[in-house]
Amino acid sequence: MVAIIGHRGAAGTFPENTMVSFIACEKLGADGIELDVQLSKDGEIVVIHDETINRTTNGKGYVKDYTLSELKQFDASYKFKGQFDNCTIPTLREVFEWAQGNNFSVNVELKNDKLEYHGLEERVINLIRSFEMENRVVLSSFNHKSMLKFTLMAPDIETAVLYNKRNKEPWKIAEDYKARAIHPNYRIITDDLIEKTLKYNVAVRPYTVNDAKIMKRLIDAKCSAIITDYPEMAFQLRGEI
Ligand code: G3P
Ligand code: CA
Repeated sequence: MVAIIGHRGAAGTFPENTMVSFIACEKLGADGIELDVQLSKDGEIVVIHDETINRTTNGKGYVKDYTLSELKQFDASYKFKGQFDNCTIPTLREVFEWAQGNNFSVNVELKNDKLEYHGLEERVINLIRSFEMENRVVLSSFNHKSMLKFTLMAPDIETAVLYNKRNKEPWKIAEDYKARAIHPNYRIITDDLIEKTLKYNVAVRPYTVNDAKIMKRLIDAKCSAIITDYPEMAFQLRGEI
């Protein structure tokens, strides 16, 4: 069965990368969540997509320049005033604490392709191990060297390579960086490439699929999972096929 992964939670309807967005995914029929992590000034793994807090919170500046307690002062749901109030930027630890009560898979995207976060891989591995989440977490990144480093340090934890440029042999990117999956932009993955990649025992999870027609095509093509802002749409379509 094609798994449904809620992108930044259920970012089409809820404030992205917040606990309310992750919790909503459970009700909307998802099998897992995707989230993004950066490192705070004091080395906490925080869940936020951008390197700065400008777009998603009421604050300004780089995540790396704030301590966790400072970051917690900002409102990560300020665009949803009246609907969701005062959501804070979660830590990955908080997400794993919540995940102890369910069977969700968690796709952690390391946002280390623009900024270098010293020791990020080690910190994430330690946290996964402390919660015994090894079998429920998939690490991904556009920084493929980081994924290779991760696999060499923790070969039991699955990694995936993210990419958005056309490639005729995408399974080779996975092989080159010792990843078990590819996470391509949905615009560049064809049914033929999905079929070929799966034959190499490499999982295929396209992102970010928000169009019903494309979702249906990918479900028919039997890709491993769909990463979407609208898990409820994917859940309904999957049930109809
Ligand atoms: O992990 C899939 C997708 O989230 C990658 O792109 O920019 O939404 O993090 P972005
Ligand atoms: Ca992401």
